[in-house]
Amino acid sequence: MDHLDGLRTRLVIDGGRRLEGSVEAPGAKNAALPIMAAAILAEGEVVLHSVPRITDVDVMASILESLGARVREQPGGTLVIDTAPVNASAAPYALVSKLNASFDVTGPLLARFGRAQVPQPGGCVLGPRAVDLHLKGFELLGASVTLEHGSIIAAADALIGADITLARASVGATKNIMLAATRAKGTTTIRNAASEPEVCDLAEFVNAMGGRVRGHGSSVITVEGVRRLRGCEYTIIPDRLTAGTYLLAGAITGGDVSVTGVDPAFLTALSDALTATGAAVSSDGMSIRVKGAARWGPVDIVTAPFPGFPTDLQPQFVAYLSLAQGTSTIEETIFDARFVYVSELARMGADIKVSGRSAIVTGVERLKDAVVEAPDIRAGGALVIAALAAEGTSQIGGLEFIDRGYEFFEEKLASLGASIARASAVEPVTPRANLGETIRMPRIVTPFRAS
Ligand code: EPZ
Repeated sequence: MDHLDGLRTRLVIDGGRRLEGSVEAPGAKNAALPIMAAAILAEGEVVLHSVPRITDVDVMASILESLGARVREQPGGTLVIDTAPVNASAAPYALVSKLNASFDVTGPLLARFGRAQVPQPGGCVLGPRAVDLHLKGFELLGASVTLEHGSIIAAADALIGADITLARASVGATKNIMLAATRAKGTTTIRNAASEPEVCDLAEFVNAMGGRVRGHGSSVITVEGVRRLRGCEYTIIPDRLTAGTYLLAGAITGGDVSVTGVDPAFLTALSDALTATGAAVSSDGMSIRVKGAARWGPVDIVTAPFPGFPTDLQPQFVAYLSLAQGTSTIEETIFDARFVYVSELARMGADIKVSGRSAIVTGVERLKDAVVEAPDIRAGGALVIAALAAEGTSQIGGLEFIDRGYEFFEEKLASLGASIARASAVEPVTPRANLGETIRMPRIVTPFRAS
């Protein structure tokens, strides 16, 4: 295989084209993953619509199958999950280690079987991904929690409703505790709960299965335990983060892009920040439109839990601000290490100085083509956005990250007028020279799996 070592599949983007048109937001990854995990509670058939075609969904489907579930795809983004045959409470390391959200199966397994054994999620490029608040919540519900050979084992003869105050409004802990509490005896109250739209969608899904969750969307969620949950049919909410990425792609190219099928209220913080830079943002029912300015100004942002500025749009917004006329300050309050992508943007000419959890972005006149590597999903979105505005032909590697979160990314961007293709390239690359033959590769992602 030596001869293949220099071969990488990359997105090849010819920058400088104005994007124009409309794309539809896919289903939300961060709702689909916990909802798939929560299907374990149904002990029957769950039909999910608007499931995004991304590799994270494939991995979650494989985890469910490894537990005994039957998962089948139907055309148009529908997934049928039968969790009646689930007969195992231990999730395999090889799959769980690929996906932080796989820890979402812990609450449902504990609720259904009184036992869950799930490898502890490690850190990732964003920083340590602690689960102490999830575990404290399980303990308050009456479970014993131990760590054995790298796996968390949570077990309880019976879970009893409890009053739980989270030390921080963790999305993951809110979801996992909510799911564990669905079949507990009595009522559980989660205070300082996360209010992200994806948490609300999960709560609505639990209710569609016959659960009794109230207060989602606020900081206090109550879960009244029920004896059983049942299968249901459910449509996942649109992905605000993917929608935001397309809006920023429109803005950075001075274009005119609409994203349909998404609730503008999900993206108020982004719309406000874009407006502050001089872009024109408008919304109409379930669509948002941005008209990028020819030149735009800086703005300071601080990432925060919903409805604040989402950490998952921070890298893409920094890419946009790297071409602003002036200096912006970005403070990241959610993750310890969410500026790892900055060195890649710097290769394209961006001027960004990072100090701890803050970054100072000094706008430059132009970005230039480069060969760059995406270190995580949203950083991949940021590098694509930068390349769309950059002079020349950029190559973006790390597609395994981009494919985890963005459904048919290059197809959708191409439909807006971008020059973008998935291609093989030979390293080392001098941009434009040595690009090798641009071959349209088969997608790495097989939407779900052929089964
Ligand atoms: C979810 O991660 C999302 N992932 C992330 O999206 C998103 O960035 C994040 O929420 C914040 O909105 C999914 O929904 C699958 P957290 P999650 O629990 O649940 C610390 C993307 O690109 N913490 O709110 O892991 C933790 O270390 C991804 O789509 C504890 O200290 O978020 C982190 O610094 C990236 N103890 C912070 O809180 C805990 O017990 C936020 O974590 C739990 C979390």
